[in-house]
Amino acid sequence: MNHCKTSPSWLFGLFPQFFQATIQMGESKFGFASFLVLLFFLSFNSVLMVHGQLLPIVSDYGENTNQIQTYIVHVLKPESSNFLGAEDLENWHKSFLPNTTLDTGEPRLLYSYKEAISGFAARLTPEEVRGMEKMDGFLRANPSKRLEVETTYTHDLLNLSTLFGAWSTSNSFFGEGIIIGVLDTGIHFPHPSFADTGMPPRPRGWNASCYLPRRSCNGKVIGAQSFKLGNTTIPPTDIDQGHGTHVAGTAAGNFVDNAEVLGQAPGKAAGMAPKAFISVYKVCWKDIGCESSGILAGIDKAIQDGVHILQMSFGARPPYLPNSFDEDDVAVATYSAMQKGIFPCTAAGNNGPDLETLGHAAPWDMVVGATTTDRRIRATVTLGDGKQFHGESAYQPTTVTNKFLPLVFPGSNGRSDQLSCKNNSLNGINVRNKIVMCYVGDIANTEKGDVVRNAGGAGMILMNFDILGFTTSSEPHHLPASHVSDKDAIEIRDYFATNATPTAKITFGGTIFGVRPAPALAYFSSRGPARYNGNIVKPDVTAPGVNILSAWPVEVGPFPSGLKTKTFNFLSGTSMATPHVSGIVALIMSKLKNDNKRIWSTSEIQSALITTANTFDLDGKPIFDEATLNNTANILQRGAGQVNATNAMDPGLLYNIETDDYVAYLCGIFSNNSQTVQIFTKNNTQCTRSISGDQLNYPSIGVQMRSRLARTTISRTVTNVGDAREIYNAKIIEPPFVKIYLSQYRLSFTRLEQQITYSITFTMNGTHPGSGVIGQGELSWVSSKHTVTSPIYIAF
Ligand SMILES: *[C@@H]1O[C@H](CO)[C@@H](O)[C@H](O)[C@H]1NC(C)=O
Ligand SMILES: *[C@@H]1O[C@H](CO)[C@@H](O)[C@H](O)[C@H]1NC(C)=O
Ligand SMILES: *[C@@H]1O[C@H](CO)[C@@H](O)[C@H](O)[C@H]1NC(C)=O
Ligand SMILES: *[C@@H]1O[C@H](CO)[C@@H](O)[C@H](O)[C@H]1NC(C)=O
Ligand SMILES: *[C@@H]1O[C@H](CO)[C@@H](O)[C@H](O)[C@H]1NC(C)=O
Ligand SMILES: *[C@@H]1O[C@H](CO)[C@@H](O)[C@H](O)[C@H]1NC(C)=O
Ligand SMILES: *[C@@H]1O[C@H](CO)[C@@H](O)[C@H](O)[C@H]1NC(C)=O
Ligand SMILES: *[C@@H]1O[C@H](CO)[C@@H](O)[C@H](O)[C@H]1NC(C)=O
Ligand SMILES: *[C@@H]1O[C@H](CO)[C@@H](O)[C@H](O)[C@H]1NC(C)=O
Ligand SMILES: *[C@@H]1O[C@H](CO)[C@@H](O)[C@H](O)[C@H]1NC(C)=O
Repeated sequence: MNHCKTSPSWLFGLFPQFFQATIQMGESKFGFASFLVLLFFLSFNSVLMVHGQLLPIVSDYGENTNQIQTYIVHVLKPESSNFLGAEDLENWHKSFLPNTTLDTGEPRLLYSYKEAISGFAARLTPEEVRGMEKMDGFLRANPSKRLEVETTYTHDLLNLSTLFGAWSTSNSFFGEGIIIGVLDTGIHFPHPSFADTGMPPRPRGWNASCYLPRRSCNGKVIGAQSFKLGNTTIPPTDIDQGHGTHVAGTAAGNFVDNAEVLGQAPGKAAGMAPKAFISVYKVCWKDIGCESSGILAGIDKAIQDGVHILQMSFGARPPYLPNSFDEDDVAVATYSAMQKGIFPCTAAGNNGPDLETLGHAAPWDMVVGATTTDRRIRATVTLGDGKQFHGESAYQPTTVTNKFLPLVFPGSNGRSDQLSCKNNSLNGINVRNKIVMCYVGDIANTEKGDVVRNAGGAGMILMNFDILGFTTSSEPHHLPASHVSDKDAIEIRDYFATNATPTAKITFGGTIFGVRPAPALAYFSSRGPARYNGNIVKPDVTAPGVNILSAWPVEVGPFPSGLKTKTFNFLSGTSMATPHVSGIVALIMSKLKNDNKRIWSTSEIQSALITTANTFDLDGKPIFDEATLNNTANILQRGAGQVNATNAMDPGLLYNIETDDYVAYLCGIFSNNSQTVQIFTKNNTQCTRSISGDQLNYPSIGVQMRSRLARTTISRTVTNVGDAREIYNAKIIEPPFVKIYLSQYRLSFTRLEQQITYSITFTMNGTHPGSGVIGQGELSWVSSKHTVTSPIYIAF
C-alpha cells in the first residue's frame, strides 16, 4: 500500500513542518498556528545553471508590474563617496527610490543596512526596480523571501553528560563572556532558563537596546529587539510561538533544577553554554514567517551590537530553496558577519530525506543536520496477538486501564483526511472506547489526539509513513497515544487487516536510555549536495535534534495547569540541532578567551568542529539513517558526522580560510563576474584570481571526477594549535574507484601556530562508475593525541 506517494495533498500534508498545533493555556486556547505556512513568492531573480556555468538571464522582478512588494536592493558605494554617518547612508539609499512614500502614506524604505549588506530594503513595484537598474551603484535586487523556523514540532532531551561531555573538560567556562545572538521568534523572558543567577557582569561597552518590555532584560538576556517590516517597536516576547525560547534555552539556557515534560525526562536542564549571554533578535513572526528584510535588519544590528555567534534556525522551504548565492541575501549578510569574526550557525533544514534540500550551503555558514539521542519516552503498543511495538509519548497517564480495546483504522479505505485523522474525518465512524490508528501528517500530532478524543476514542496509535522511517517523537499528547515507526506501522496495519476482531492496548514505560542505534540521522534532516557551491560538503555536521527538551512558554499536555514560567517541552527539527553547535562554539570561544589564547577565525572554529566529528555511533558503528530501513548515513546526509564538543575544544590542527580565498572562491563561483562578487565584498573588488571550490582551504574535501581519466590536485594548509612539537601521520580511506596521493605523508611540527601546506592528488583507478554516483572517503592526520579528519566527497 503506497497511497502516500500518489496524492499531492498527502505528499505535502505529511511533512511535519506544515503542521499546526494547538496548545492550551488555562482557560484559553491558543491557536498555535504554524510558523510553517508555505508562501508563494511572486518571482525570483534567477541565474540559470547550465553545465556548471552561470548564465545570467534577464532579471525578473515579478509578473505584475504594479504589485508593490519588498525588495532587498544591493548597491555599491561610489569610490569617491565618504559617508559620515547613518543619515548620509540612509539618504543615499533613498536616492535610489522614486519617492519616499507610497500612495498609502507608508514609507518605502524599510531598512537602511549598515553592516549586513551594502543596501537597503524597500517597497517597490517590479517596474520601479527595473528603473533602478540603470542607476549608478545598483548591483542587484531580490524580492524579499519568506523563510521558516526549522522545527518539525516534535521534541527530546539532551543528556549532556553522556552525549557531549564537554563540561568535564576542565576550564570550559560554560561559555562565559560570549554573546550568542539568537535570531528567532523572540524569547519568554520570565523562564528560569534565562535567569541571571551566576552570570558574570555584562560585557564592557555592550550597548544593545532592550525594547519593551524594557525591564525584561537582565544579566542573562542582555539585548532584545524586534524587526518586522520596518517596525522595531513590537516587544520581542515569545508567548505565541515558543520556538525562539526553546532554541535559546538549548544554546545557552541557565541551569534549572527539576526540569521535565509531564514528568518525563526529569533532571537538571541547561543549555550547551549556560553562562553565555543571549541577545535576542525577533525576526520570525507568526503571520509573516522569517522575512528577508527583517532577518537582514537583525543581522545588521547583531553585527553592530558585537555578538560573537549568530544562531539561525530558519531557512527556505522547497520549492524556494536557494539555488545560487546571489539570490540568497542571508548568505550575503552572514558573509559580512564572518568577515567581522562572528560565527554564523544555521540549520540544514527539515526537507529530508530527499537529496538537494539544504536551506543554507555557503562555506562560511556552519550548516547543522539533526540526529536522535539514545533516549525515548516509551509508550508500548501491544496487539491482541501479543506482539509489542515500542513507540513514544510524553504524556504517560497512570490511570489507564490495562485492558485490550478494539482497534480501528478509519483510513483503511485510503481517504487522506481519515488516514491522518483530520478534523471531522471521524464523523460517522464508531471509535468510542477504541484505539484509533492515525498517520502522521496534515495536522499536528497532538491535534489528531484531540480529534480522536472528541470522537470518543480511548487512545491513538500514531503511525509513520514510509519516508519518516524510524524517527518518532515524544509529544505531550492529549490522550493515551504511541508514536510508532513506519516498520511497526506496517506490521500493525497487517495485523489489523488480517484479524476479524483486532484489539490493542497502550502501556507506558517512562523515560528510557540506551536505545540503539544512537545517534541516528533523523529522516527530516535536509541533505546535500548543493549544486551551486562548488562541491563544498554540506551539511557540515549533525547534532541532537529529535525530542530535545528545552524551555517553553506555556504548559503542555491534556490538562494544562495554567500559565507557568518553568515549563519545558520536547521539540524536533534541525532548529533544535543548530543551537547545540552554537553553544559549543561559545564553549570554544570562552575557553580560548579565558586561557588568553588567540581567538580562532570563524573558519578555524568550523574546522575544529568538522575535523573532530564522529562518523560512528555509540556502538562504534557507522551513523544510521532513520529514513531508510538499513542504510548508514553518507557524507551528503550527515556531513562530517556527529559534533563532538570535547574533541572540538582540542582539535590539534586547524584549516583557516583567508578573506582573499573567499573572494577568489566567489570569483570562481560567479565566473569572474566582479559585479556579483561585489554584492558580498561590498567594495569595488575586481576578479583577478579565481579558485574552484575544492581549492578553498575547507576542512572537508569535495572534488568532481568526471571521467575515467580525471585527475585533480588540491592543496590544504594546516595550523598547529596542539602541542608545539607534534608529529602527524596520514591515514587515508580511499573512495571507491579513486586513488589518493599526498605530497607528504607526515607532518612534523616544531612550534605552535606553525603552518604546513600539503597537496592531495586524486586519480581514477581506471574505471568510472557513471555520472551522478557519489563516493566518500577520509583523510586523517593522526598524532598520539589528535585525529584530524577531513571527510572526502567525490562527485563522479
Ligand atoms: C510616489 O511615486 C508613486 C509612483 O511613482 C506615485 O504613485 C505616488 O503618488 C508618489 N507618492 C508621492 C507622495 O508623491
Ligand atoms: C568523542 O570522540 C571520542 C574519540 O574521537 C570518543 O571517545 C568519545 O566517546 C566521543 N564523545 C562523544 C560524546 O561521543
Ligand atoms: C548606545 O546606543 C544608543 C542608541 O541605541 C546611542 O544613542 C548611544 O550613543 C550608544 N552609546 C554608546 C556608548 O555607544
Ligand atoms: C508597530 O507595531 C505596533 C504593534 O503592532 C503598532 O502598534 C505600531 O503602530 C506599529 N508601528 C508602525 C510604525 O507601524
Ligand atoms: C543521562 O543518561 C544516563 C544514562 O545514560 C542516566 O543515568 C542519567 O540519569 C541521565 N541524566 C539526565 C540528566 O537525564
Ligand atoms: C478542529 O475542530 C475544532 C472544533 O471542532 C476547532 O476548535 C479546531 O480549531 C479545528 N482545527 C482545525 C485545524 O480546523
Ligand atoms: C540490518 O542490518 C543488520 C546488520 O547491521 C542486520 O542484522 C539486519 O538483518 C538488517 N535488517 C534488514 C531489515 O535488512
Ligand atoms: C577567471 O579569470 C582568470 C584569469 O583572470 C582565469 O584564469 C579563470 O579561469 C577565470 N575563472 C573562471 C571561472 O572563469
Ligand atoms: C574588498 O573587501 C575584501 C573583503 O571582503 C578585501 O579583502 C579587499 O581587499 C577589498 N577590496 C578593495 C578593492 O577594497
Ligand atoms: C576500481 O575501483 C572499483 C571500486 O572500488 C573496483 O570495483 C574496481 O575493481 C577497481 N578497478 C580497478 C581497475 O582496479
